[in-house]
Parts: sequence; structure tokens; C-alpha cells
Amino acid sequence: MTTTVRHFLTDLDLTQAEQAEVLDLAEAMKKDKYGYKPYAGPQTVAVFFDKTSTRTRVSFAAGIAELGGATLIINSAESQLGHKESISDSAKVLARMVSTIVWRTYAQSGLEEMAENSSVPVINALSDDYHPCQLLADLLTVREHKGSLAGLSMAYLGDAANNMANSYLLAGVTAGMHVRIAGPEGYLPAADIIAAAEARAAETGGSVLVTTDAAAALAGADVVATDTWVSMGQEDEKAERLELFRAYAVDAPAMAQADKDAVVLHCLPAYRGYEISADVIDGPQSVVFDEAENRVHAQKAIMGWLLAKSGLADVAGVSQER
Ligand code: CP
Repeated sequence: MTTTVRHFLTDLDLTQAEQAEVLDLAEAMKKDKYGYKPYAGPQTVAVFFDKTSTRTRVSFAAGIAELGGATLIINSAESQLGHKESISDSAKVLARMVSTIVWRTYAQSGLEEMAENSSVPVINALSDDYHPCQLLADLLTVREHKGSLAGLSMAYLGDAANNMANSYLLAGVTAGMHVRIAGPEGYLPAADIIAAAEARAAETGGSVLVTTDAAAALAGADVVATDTWVSMGQEDEKAERLELFRAYAVDAPAMAQADKDAVVLHCLPAYRGYEISADVIDGPQSVVFDEAENRVHAQKAIMGWLLAKSGLADVAGVSQER
């Protein structure tokens, strides 16, 4: 039987059961930091960045080292990728040299073309549409603090048309959560994302609420999340955006509407006084630094899981479809 190479391009690439298996693996890898070596050799992982990064860059490099591999961090502008060589040719070349390709880029279509032409797993390290690795870390963090995911309510406030809002919606309902997304008119998830989330929620027991009413999203929420109001590439719109999103700030009055034991997520970097107040992000309900650390454990898990499912490595705890 030929094994299909598995990729992680959007939050929907994992079923509910697969997402749980990845989170279980992340938990096991966190407990046994140096106990898993699917990149022994060392095998190389190529990690391309078209946009700036601190957490993603460092967490992939640290995680790959812990998995026994070697990391090649590449600033895309200094490579041929996408401007001096087609993505498809780049994928075919890279797959003969490295064991996994990780890419932070703009267009989701570029990641899809890379994956279509790659015989090794391709991982989305953030695109304009999704940030699925971040959501694995977020869900791992919520699971650690709340014990489980299915049935919890998760509110996301702010720029609800960005990659983080899309990923909260899709990954959250995949976990069986009740996901509430609130932002101003014109800055809500696209209709196709909402439809995909509703379809996934129907399978998992989760639900979707997309609203302009921050209070409706926050009411009794178990998890409250936000993200910068000015994503990479939107710097020219900063003044307009700060005004537009003001009613969606995660501050003390907002947190008073959530459950008293709610946890607060932010993927970082954060802008205190804008999307989140200093007293909330630096307060007792904030789990943002656990969330940041969990990028390492979650990404180790998705890399190991994809290798195992693609028949490219044996990883304890992951069933293989050879
Ligand atoms: N959250 C996140 O992706 O951080 P970086 O942009 O620093 O990688």
C-alpha cells in the first residue's frame, strides 16, 4: 500500500480524533523532552520565512533540535523561492534534501502548491488565512488549564477577519468547542470559513457564533482570546484600525462578562493598551506565556505525527497507515 504524504496547511487538515492524537503526543513530548528522535541522523528541516517572526522561528528550531534534527532557517528573500524559481520546482528540489518543509508566507495557494509537489510534509507556519500551529499550542494550553476541550466556550474579540480568527474558529470547532467570534461589521470571517466551521461543528458537537456584539461573545466564556489589531502588512491602516476595534478590547470590563475562571490567550506579540490591557495580559487569568512555550511542544508533535502518518518515521503513540 502506498502511503499518502500528510501536510498541515489549515486547521481542518486534522479531524477531531487526529487533533486529539496530536495534542496527546504534544503532552507526552512535553513530559519527555528529549525522548523522541524522528529526525535522528540528523535529518534537516527547511524553515522559510517571508514575514518576520520570533516565536515561530525559535520554537521550530528548538523543537527540531529536540527531535534529533537540524534546522535550516531561510529568509525567503535571500533564496530563489517564489520569485526566481517556481514553488513547484522548489518543492521537488527541497524534498530531495530535507525531511520536512515549514513555510511562513502570504498566500495560502503557495503552501498548497508546495504541498502538491512535495514528497515530504509541508507545514503552514502562518499564512494570510491561517495560523494552525499557533492553534495547536493554544488548544494544548487550554487543555492543560481546563482539563478538556469539547463543550468549552471560546470567545475571540477584535480583528475577526484575520488568520487567527479563522484558525480559532476552525480549530476550536474541530475540538468540539463553542466558538464565538466578535468584531466590527466588515471585519468578520469570510462566508466560506464560517460555512466550513459550521460543517465541522456539526460533526464534533461544537458550535459557531459570529457577531458584532462583543458582549454576546463574552457571556460566560471559558476562554477569551484576541490578537493584534494591525497584522503584518496592514501598518498603513493603523490609525483607522485602532479606532475601529476599540469596542473589542480585552480589558477588565470585558473579562467581567466572561466566566470568573476564564483563561486569556494571546498569540503574541501583544500591544498593551490596544487589543488587550496590561492588567489582563499580566494578570492571573492570562496563560499567554504557557501558550508561547507550548509552540515548541505542539510543533514537535505535529512534525512527528505527520512523519509517522506519512510512513516516514516511527513515533511512539502514533498509529501508521502503511
Ligand atoms: N505568535 C507568533 O506566530 O509569533 P511570531 O510572529 O513571533 O512567530
